[in-house]
Amino acid sequence: MTHEQLLMLPPDTAGLEKAAAILSVGGLVSFPTETVYGLGADARNDVAVAKIYAAKGRPSFNPLIVHLADMASVANYCEINDTARQLAAAFWPGALTLVLPLKADAGVSKLVTAGLDTLAVRVPDHSVAHGVLSAFGGPIAAPSANPSGRISPTTAAHVAAGLAGRIDAVVDGGECHVGVESTIVSCVGAPVLLRAGGIPVEALEACLGQALVVGRDPDLPTAPGQLASHYAPRGKVRLNAPYAQEGEVLLGFGPVEADLNLSVAGDLAEAAARLFACLHELDAMGAERIAVSPIPNHGLGRAINDRLQRAAAPR
Ligand code: TXA
Ligand code: MG
Repeated sequence: MTHEQLLMLPPDTAGLEKAAAILSVGGLVSFPTETVYGLGADARNDVAVAKIYAAKGRPSFNPLIVHLADMASVANYCEINDTARQLAAAFWPGALTLVLPLKADAGVSKLVTAGLDTLAVRVPDHSVAHGVLSAFGGPIAAPSANPSGRISPTTAAHVAAGLAGRIDAVVDGGECHVGVESTIVSCVGAPVLLRAGGIPVEALEACLGQALVVGRDPDLPTAPGQLASHYAPRGKVRLNAPYAQEGEVLLGFGPVEADLNLSVAGDLAEAAARLFACLHELDAMGAERIAVSPIPNHGLGRAINDRLQRAAAPR
């Protein structure tokens, strides 16, 4: 099946084998994870990784996350310390990315790390992602499968709308159930939170028994998730709006009268899962001015507010 110029693969054995075959020859395949759809390439292949940057129109200084099947595979690429072991045991597979010292002989393309001596790694919690990883049998570098600066995709249709004609295939695994990207923690030295995401910071701190240092000033990005205008819908976004003003479309949270609602029940997990789909829908509606209800800033609310603040940032 094709969607415009994009091969849509079913998440069955034949589809997964086709995905692996494309990756093996240096192609780009998008696949679902529990957070968002990733745009995958063989992390050892410079040309393949370069194609990711080209397809996304991504500034080349932004390093990528490598997806692996399990902790044993991670240990082939990175030095594992106690903090990493503790977090991995508690949260992998899952929506947590760890930044770890890169092993010298790891064989990962320098385009993946942007020349850093650290590597961001994640073991996803999604059967289709694992199907692709096991059919391919190698490390898969995968940023979110959206054009740079645009809204992250949580369905295969979102991927097709953003990247058809620029990538080889997408494995259609339905909707991503977490809906915001992974939380990123650097475990090089004392643990540092680099990006709020699908695993709440409170859960990480409870696991480690210590507070996480929050990463650098967002205006000085170490992670491109930290670039100011990111995750942006086309319309102008106004946050913490109890109600819409004239000419605005309201993206609600909780029991408010809204054009679209992240979660009528006020459930943060539901809101996270629906966030990017709602932003895509606002684009599809042609919304030019978007008001967003206040979202509590705890648990997954922190990741949601982070993404919304970027969506509202001047561009
Ligand atoms: O949930 C996710 O993490 C999704 C899915 C596909 O797994 N991926 C994702 O990738 O969000 P991307 O490329 O959109 O975000 C990767 C983030 C960037 O903010 C990047 O700067 C940071 O990871 N990163 C990668 N390597 C790093 C490193 N060595 N040190 C610090 N940050 C790093
Ligand atoms: Mg992204």
